[in-house]
Amino acid sequence: MPQPLLAVAAALVLLLFAAAAAHGFEIEEATVASIQLGFHNGSLTSVELVRFYLDRISRLNPLLHAVIEVNPDALRHAARADAERRSSSSGKCGALHGVPVLLKDNIATRDALNTTAGSFALLGSVARRDAGVVRRLRRAGAVVLGKANMDEWANFRSLAGTDGWSARGGQARNPYVLSASPCGSSTGSAIAAAASMAAVTVGTETDGSILCPASLNSVVGIKPTVGLTSRAGVVPITPRQDTVGPICRTVTDAVLVLDAIVGYDALDAAATSTASKYIPDGGYTQFLKKEGLNGKRIGIPNGFFSYANGTVQHTVYQQHIDTMRKQGAIVIEDLDIANLSVILDSLNNGQEIALAAEFKLSLNAYLPGLSYSPVRTLAEIIAFNDAHPVEEKMKEIGQIIFLVAENTTGIGAIEKAAISQLNKLSADGLEKLMREHELDAVVTPNDSASSVLAMGGMPAITVPGGYGKLGVPFGVSFGGLKGYEPRLIEMAYAFEQVTMVRKTPTFLP
Ligand SMILES: *[C@@H]1O[C@H](CO)[C@@H](O)[C@H](O)[C@H]1NC(C)=O
Ligand SMILES: *[C@@H]1O[C@H](CO)[C@@H](O)[C@H](O)[C@H]1NC(C)=O
Ligand SMILES: *[C@@H]1O[C@H](CO)[C@@H](O)[C@H](O)[C@H]1NC(C)=O
Ligand SMILES: *[C@@H]1O[C@H](CO)[C@@H](O)[C@H](O)[C@H]1NC(C)=O
Ligand SMILES: *[C@@H]1O[C@H](CO)[C@@H](O)[C@H](O)[C@H]1NC(C)=O
Ligand SMILES: *[C@@H]1O[C@H](CO)[C@@H](O)[C@H](O)[C@H]1NC(C)=O
Repeated sequence: MPQPLLAVAAALVLLLFAAAAAHGFEIEEATVASIQLGFHNGSLTSVELVRFYLDRISRLNPLLHAVIEVNPDALRHAARADAERRSSSSGKCGALHGVPVLLKDNIATRDALNTTAGSFALLGSVARRDAGVVRRLRRAGAVVLGKANMDEWANFRSLAGTDGWSARGGQARNPYVLSASPCGSSTGSAIAAAASMAAVTVGTETDGSILCPASLNSVVGIKPTVGLTSRAGVVPITPRQDTVGPICRTVTDAVLVLDAIVGYDALDAAATSTASKYIPDGGYTQFLKKEGLNGKRIGIPNGFFSYANGTVQHTVYQQHIDTMRKQGAIVIEDLDIANLSVILDSLNNGQEIALAAEFKLSLNAYLPGLSYSPVRTLAEIIAFNDAHPVEEKMKEIGQIIFLVAENTTGIGAIEKAAISQLNKLSADGLEKLMREHELDAVVTPNDSASSVLAMGGMPAITVPGGYGKLGVPFGVSFGGLKGYEPRLIEMAYAFEQVTMVRKTPTFLP
């Protein structure tokens, strides 16, 4: 750990205590519900809220690199929300009205903000319109605060991974233990939520990119069933697995964001119309039930909780499983997911083959849809990186996956076989296990089951689980079958309420 980082950390922690609150309203850990109360009783305005987060970003970002851009129009939009609230008859404004939201940098906005997936290659490109989820957030009255740093190209550039790093945003850091990996690729979204640099945030996942950074930054991440949220306007990897979801400090806040962003979008028609049957009448907040674990059948699959006796993780996860039982859940241990070793081997399970071809196809379809872009094809991005080797850290990170993807020629026989293997692994694995044992969820640590879920487009929620010996957070993840969000929310919320694990960031070296 270099000394300068320690010094910067100490200075920033001191500065944080000087952060102002509005009229006695404590913004730092404010939930969406308390923000709305504050709006309602006159102790808070959206402008004050945006000022608070902009101030906090300017203090913390030099250390954490969670935010890649702030919206120069955020204060103006906040003022508009305040005016709307004053002139509307009470109760007309929804939960996210006037609430500042930070978006991962692969979610397009048609405004002053750039959308670059962390790269310089897309800098200056102009989206034709807001992404589908952004249109919904704006309709709900949310204020777009800015863009969150992310693993460049959602970690799909190199096998080395970019571990919280992007060329434009720099190296993001875990606010609990600065030297620990913050994980990716929705890194900045998770860090910004954890360190209260935004009220709520949105990330995306193809395989682990919400579940991992949310777990390791001690926040709640919801990875929705593929198609529940529109992917239109999101820099893609594959429509088969990509999904957009909330990352927030509480399950309730994440559910409020989920409620705002789900639904049909004509620009992602096939997936969103298929998944819209899962959206319950009355939305998802009805599933925030304190007794939500009662009667649930929870499976603990073998191969995930393999911690040595005596480690914090071993003890804490045991306690959590006991807690679930005490809350009335029927916990079934010692279950086997068929072919698990193949499923977890992304080089041999078919995912690498399928993703390479799907990425080239979807990116080459996405880029021409921009109204302006310096790069229009994957080949041009590869050439851009070659021409900017220092900025893009080509020596350290390379772009081997880009090169492999560029070599593909569509969905041929090999890719079809890989995709049907993925489908079969999911059907024989998680789907069969859950049906045979009538499970409501499988519980696993962090994002360790992300591939099990990703291949079938299945949902999961991760909730803070604890802190290791060195203070690094870990998560408890509830995963299920397509459309299981209602019961996953019940279990995650009940678990959160009874354990209350999350604490504010510690900024340890
Ligand atoms: C308004 O609501 C906020 C949030 O619940 C609370 O902290 C504050 O004390 C309330 N202020 C007044 C004047 O009621
Ligand atoms: C977007 O990128 C351009 C550089 O192309 C920069 O001048 C501008 O400030 C960026 N926008 C924001 C909101 O940071
Ligand atoms: C851990 O401890 C339990 C009993 O306390 C024992 O049955 C088990 O074999 C131990 N596991 C390992 C890996 O040492
Ligand atoms: C691309 O394909 C060519 C021709 O088959 C091969 O020589 C080359 O190694 C491939 N490159 C990568 C990165 O897969
Ligand atoms: C998975 O395992 C089962 C046996 O448990 C086997 O019948 C099946 O073919 C395997 N599926 C794949 C895709 O390897
Ligand atoms: C979960 O994350 C914590 C913190 O990094 C780590 O100690 C633990 O080994 C992880 N578990 C798995 C199964 O990935």
